[in-house]
Amino acid sequence: MTFHQLRPQIEEILGKDSLTADERIQKVCDLLQTSVPYYDWVGFYFKNGDKEELKLGKYAGEPTDHEIIPFGKGICGQVAVSNKNFVVPDVKAQNNYIACSIHVKAEIVVPLFKNGENIGQIDIDSHTEDPFSHEDEVFLEWVNERVAEIL
Ligand code: SME
Repeated sequence: MTFHQLRPQIEEILGKDSLTADERIQKVCDLLQTSVPYYDWVGFYFKNGDKEELKLGKYAGEPTDHEIIPFGKGICGQVAVSNKNFVVPDVKAQNNYIACSIHVKAEIVVPLFKNGENIGQIDIDSHTEDPFSHEDEVFLEWVNERVAEIL
């Protein structure tokens, strides 16, 4: 499914007032993980209260041991500090990387802003080498803007 086709489906999910924010975010994770062939794990991390760490929220894919990630650690922790997208075409080339599964070859992390503040991020792991393009970044920035509206 193309990103163009996914956008209205994501808007529909996030607009469902009968569901909690967590339920809607879970459905967004499920939709992305099942619709984009190279999205093998899709999850949201959020700042854990006042702590300088990320806490795993909803996700689709294999369970991970990394439910808490300190700021600065791994790709996710670096994005919590940099406020910038981080596209990793080859995870083996990264020193500051937290491995969640031996199958993961690439990763993309895009920060999620609410009222200009970096409050979390979407994290996607891929079993495909170098799969992410600028289109993924544009699409995932848009997803995060829509998610921020219901938080
Ligand atoms: N690989 C991430 C950790 C999170 S898992 O991919 C779910 C990182 O280096 O921050």
